[in-house]
Amino acid sequence: MRVAVLGGTGTIGKRIVVELRRRGVETIALSRAQGVDALSGSGLVAALEGVDVVVDALNTNTFAAATAKRFFITTANHVAYAARVNDVQRVVCVSIVNAMDPAVLRTNGYYAGKAAQENAYLKSGLPVQIVRTTQWFELAEQLSKQLRVGRFAVVPRMLSQPIAADAAARFVAENVLADPWEPIAEIAGPASLDLAAAAQRIASKSSAAAGSASLKVFPIPLPGPMGSGGLLPAAGTRTDAETFEQWLSRH
Ligand SMILES: NC(=O)c1ccc[n+]([C@@H]2O[C@H](COP(=O)([O-])OP(=O)(O)OC[C@H]3O[C@@H](n4cnc5c(N)ncnc54)[C@H](OP(=O)(O)O)[C@@H]3O)[C@@H](O)[C@H]2O)c1
Repeated sequence: MRVAVLGGTGTIGKRIVVELRRRGVETIALSRAQGVDALSGSGLVAALEGVDVVVDALNTNTFAAATAKRFFITTANHVAYAARVNDVQRVVCVSIVNAMDPAVLRTNGYYAGKAAQENAYLKSGLPVQIVRTTQWFELAEQLSKQLRVGRFAVVPRMLSQPIAADAAARFVAENVLADPWEPIAEIAGPASLDLAAAAQRIASKSSAAAGSASLKVFPIPLPGPMGSGGLLPAAGTRTDAETFEQWLSRH
């Protein structure tokens, strides 16, 4: 089996590449550095030649619905076209638990983009597998870098049941190799957590390690479902065992 991971240099993409190669799967990592631009479509058809499964782990960083939708719909359509031309057997789309929930996507432009991406793949007529995870522990740290001035950062209060990116990548790799495979697969972390509180813990730990003053995180409440449980997984969703504390101790 030959697998191409689009976004194979990103936070989860590079981990998926490692997990697949560890399982003996021939895996190529694709991004713009390899001459493949999924937004313009440039290099995509040639890059998917001889590929059996494509994993879409592409991303754009935006809170604006129009920008997110444009990126995720356009890239999904380009990937679907290149997959069809090359007789690819399956496209695996890495997505987020509850991204399709109307209440969530109405209040967050990025999630509106992810829902549009899932819909674009589902409408493509290709064999498509949507693999959703909850937010990653790593996201808490990323959020604290986005709205930061000096030693102060503003982080939205997001109530999630987060998971380590390593575990999320393992789950994606398992699903790529699953036979038969489920059209939708979901995983969450072991316990609910406010990502703003997690961001403060990460900042305090790294400043203690560096012997410097800690970043002060100011949590801001989010209206709507993002801060009040709308991101939490449904009862019975598979969970990974690693807790935030365990992740933090090895981080
Ligand atoms: N963060 C979370 O908590 C979370 C949870 C569940 C699911 N997800 C989903 O996981 C996916 C991956 O997120 P991530 O945080 O791992 O992404 P990331 O770290 O931002 O990496 C994005 C990847 O996409 C590539 N890329 C971006 N634009 C491209 C283009 N036009 N053509 C080709 N490659 C392009 C980047 O490489 P270059 O820029 O070098 O091209 C990079 O390899 C996203 O769809 C996200 O919604 C995230």
